[in-house]
Amino acid sequence: MSLHSSSSPVLPLLVLSLLLLSPRGTLAGRCPPANGAPLVLDLAGPLVWSPCQSPHRTVPCKSSVCTVANRNRPASCASSANGGQPGSADPNCACTAYAYNPASGQCAGGDLFSVPLSANATDGNNPLFPVTFSAYSACAPDGLLESLPSGAAGVAGLSRQPLSLPSQVASRLKVAKEFALCLPGSGQTGAAIFGGGAFVIQAAPQPIDFAGEIRQNPLPILKNPKNGAYYFGVRGIAVNQEHLNLPAGAFDLDRRQGTGGVVFSTATRFTTLRSDIYSAVMNAFDAVTRGIPRRKPFPPFQLCYDVSGVPTTRVGPAVPNIDLMLDGGRNWTLPGDSLLVQFGGGTACFAFDSMGNEQSAAFYSPAVIFGAHQMENNLLLFDLEKGTFGSSGLLLGRSTTCGNFNFAMGSS
Ligand SMILES: *[C@@H]1O[C@H](CO)[C@@H](O)[C@H](O)[C@H]1NC(C)=O
Ligand SMILES: *[C@@H]1O[C@H](CO)[C@@H](O)[C@H](O)[C@H]1NC(C)=O
Repeated sequence: MSLHSSSSPVLPLLVLSLLLLSPRGTLAGRCPPANGAPLVLDLAGPLVWSPCQSPHRTVPCKSSVCTVANRNRPASCASSANGGQPGSADPNCACTAYAYNPASGQCAGGDLFSVPLSANATDGNNPLFPVTFSAYSACAPDGLLESLPSGAAGVAGLSRQPLSLPSQVASRLKVAKEFALCLPGSGQTGAAIFGGGAFVIQAAPQPIDFAGEIRQNPLPILKNPKNGAYYFGVRGIAVNQEHLNLPAGAFDLDRRQGTGGVVFSTATRFTTLRSDIYSAVMNAFDAVTRGIPRRKPFPPFQLCYDVSGVPTTRVGPAVPNIDLMLDGGRNWTLPGDSLLVQFGGGTACFAFDSMGNEQSAAFYSPAVIFGAHQMENNLLLFDLEKGTFGSSGLLLGRSTTCGNFNFAMGSS
């Protein structure tokens, strides 16, 4: 059984409603914290949270789930003075949990409560039957929704931690602890599929099920003991096949300090590089694209082009590739569509950002934050049980996109 969601707009966070898949079939549906509105997905988030309805089922402080919920408290959240701490023997003590908004960086304490989530099961083609299950969620003040996309009812954390949405779906519905994420390009609807299943995407001449190939060559997820985010191992970067000269260990995760490493983030639109890495990558890309006419920088982008004369390929404007050279000798190749962001009027900019000093000094600052634009139109599968992930590569190269999931197809 797995849970699938289809999304509306992507910026800066993905809003998804959810679909479920079952071992016998699949479920398709919205994932409302009761009111039918979608949740924003936060790949690094520890919890599910939303503003709560007035009468809601609280959780006793002495319960073990209260201890678990508080273990996930983001470093920036001050603990509440109003009690609700785990372990209190007071039978009337209602557990407090801490909701974190990845867009604003704000945080708020509120009751941990139990909320019904619903979705439709599907076999990858047909919506079959609705499923409802209860999940632990942190209750947040309405104000915490600020700076999330309008219409969002809260956040669903997708981290490795025990109260994230994939962890709760797996334990409640007895499905595999894994999820697939396919972030759409603008104006399209992507997908998040929980619990396993077929990943059938419409394509010409026929639909493709990516499940087999994406599971075939998994890569390790690296764990940072300081958080529940997903890191992956990078040895180096090559621009137009030219290996950049960066210090050995430039991308290493320091597990003791919790710093460095390369981390996936749906809360970051464009991949953000530590300033030394950014300079090296940008200078190299600048050099290999010398032949393309320039446009004025368009902050935060420093390198912008007039691409009206550049041939367009299936995988975007024909510019040199960048390879992330991974642990184990494989590459994550980024072609034109992943490297540039297009603004119309023939303007396209190099879609990477440099970490400011403040960001570099922040808690657990990584070397590279691999952002939504570079994940876009890649089907990614995160297996929390095995500690691995897999990628389809850029779907445009297969003449399809994350917008081509269609779970209602068989019924229509
Ligand atoms: C499930 O599918 C039905 C019929 O297609 C649809 O009307 C309903 O909104 C879906 N439920 C959810 C929770 O998305
Ligand atoms: C990975 O990328 C590097 C740099 O572009 C290249 O030299 C190497 O052959 C690639 N390896 C594979 C397995 O494709």
